[in-house]
Amino acid sequence: LWTSVDVVASTGSTNSDLVASGGAEGAVLVAEEQTAGRGRLDRTWSAPPRSGLFFSFLLTPGPDVPAERWGWLPLLAGVATATALARAAGVDMALKWPNDLLIEVEGAERKAGGILAERTGDSVVVGIGLNVSLRADELPVPTAGSLALAGAKVLDRDPLLRAVLRSVEEWYGEWRRAGGDPGACRLQQAYAAGCATLGRTVRAELPGGRELVGEAVAVDGDGRLVLATEDGVQEPVGAGDIVHLR
Ligand code: BTN
Repeated sequence: LWTSVDVVASTGSTNSDLVASGGAEGAVLVAEEQTAGRGRLDRTWSAPPRSGLFFSFLLTPGPDVPAERWGWLPLLAGVATATALARAAGVDMALKWPNDLLIEVEGAERKAGGILAERTGDSVVVGIGLNVSLRADELPVPTAGSLALAGAKVLDRDPLLRAVLRSVEEWYGEWRRAGGDPGACRLQQAYAAGCATLGRTVRAELPGGRELVGEAVAVDGDGRLVLATEDGVQEPVGAGDIVHLR
């Protein structure tokens, strides 16, 4: 899958670079430092140089995968990252819908990474940011975590990157062969098993300011989080911020 892996010392955002490049499927761009890293919902992603993995890759699912299913790509990247880090570094990572990577530090959930997927034409650029070596006093916010704080056995960025890329390739191949149907491969089940949001009562802060409270009961075939609200209605949520309540 991976046709090129370019490593740059510094750039604004690897996602922006790949979106602008209009490159081919399988291009990977890794930065040692990002000066204008971006997160979901117009947030910034900042991390000290070389303290983590900051990279993006370009995927072109093709006509076999209907566009509605592409919403699974960031979730797939989350499953692939969690699987890889469990295997390569012995880290137990949970996923917060849609694509926060959580670790547990002293019984509390901390965000050690995040995923940003952006569509560009027939392709999707998926960016992964992962805090690797940050110590407690270096965290950007108190709710952040890092692989070091999670007791990872490996903190060298190279083998971690290789493990994540290998894992993305495996999961992506499986999903694509299933025509993008996450229920027809292992993906939907693996996401559900690793997802800290399912089974919780959550507040969804939807684009436009509407809020919805309900129990997160499923992630559907298009990657949306399904909430069972107090009115007894099941509402699929496709975008927005999720707050875990209980
Ligand atoms: C989030 O938590 O909202 C997503 C964060 C995604 C950060 C990564 S770092 C590599 C890639 N380039 C970016 O500008 N963002 C993503």
